[in-house]
Amino acid sequence: MKKIIVGLTGASGSAYFRRLIEVLLEHEVEIHVIASEHGSQVLAYETGIILEEQIKVWNEKISDTRITLEDNNNMFSAVASGSYRCDAMIVIPCSMSTLAEIANGITKSLLTRAADVMIKEQRKLVIVPRETPLSTIHLKNMYELSKVGVTILPAMPGFYNLPETVDDMINHIVGKALDCIGIDNNNYKRWKGKN
Ligand SMILES: Cc1cc2nc3c(=O)[nH]c(=O)nc-3n(C[C@H](O)[C@H](O)[C@H](O)COP(=O)(O)O)c2cc1C
Repeated sequence: MKKIIVGLTGASGSAYFRRLIEVLLEHEVEIHVIASEHGSQVLAYETGIILEEQIKVWNEKISDTRITLEDNNNMFSAVASGSYRCDAMIVIPCSMSTLAEIANGITKSLLTRAADVMIKEQRKLVIVPRETPLSTIHLKNMYELSKVGVTILPAMPGFYNLPETVDDMINHIVGKALDCIGIDNNNYKRWKGKN
């Protein structure tokens, strides 16, 4: 079973996180959620969801424990080590603060440590940054990560597939992130595509 780490940080756009987990649950994957303190707070503010409670609900819905909520302070977690073979990690949404830490190898939380592990093990790491406008510092940090193979997938939905609802726009970004980690999905309308 594929093992996917999903990082949630305090950037706006926690609805992307919620949708990503919902879609991942449709697949046979093991999900490790790591949330920063601000990530949980912004999720509660923007969606009304209390992360711990929602994870219980999600697991109950599939009658399984495929989602593990990691303690962001627990460096003894399996996902802190490269020897635990995770297939991919998505940080969605990613704040500029967490982006800066990952780009500079600062690993004081489990979330940033897990991201650092993905980079050193040359595994798939997708960052979904959200801020506007972007400063030179933000752009430099994204550039540094891009140079070492990290996918920078900005929360920047397209309009070419004629979205009708906010959900359509959320699904677009989530579908693109899933494409990047090789998870088959029909989460968004592809350009002229039937695949
Ligand atoms: C409602 C709300 C929305 C925010 N949106 C953003 C954002 O879009 N991008 C960002 O970089 N920071 C945003 N912030 C600020 C971050 O939460 C803050 O920088 C925090 O220290 C990030 O910590 P973390 O990376 O550990 O989650 C927002 C804060 C709040 C309260």
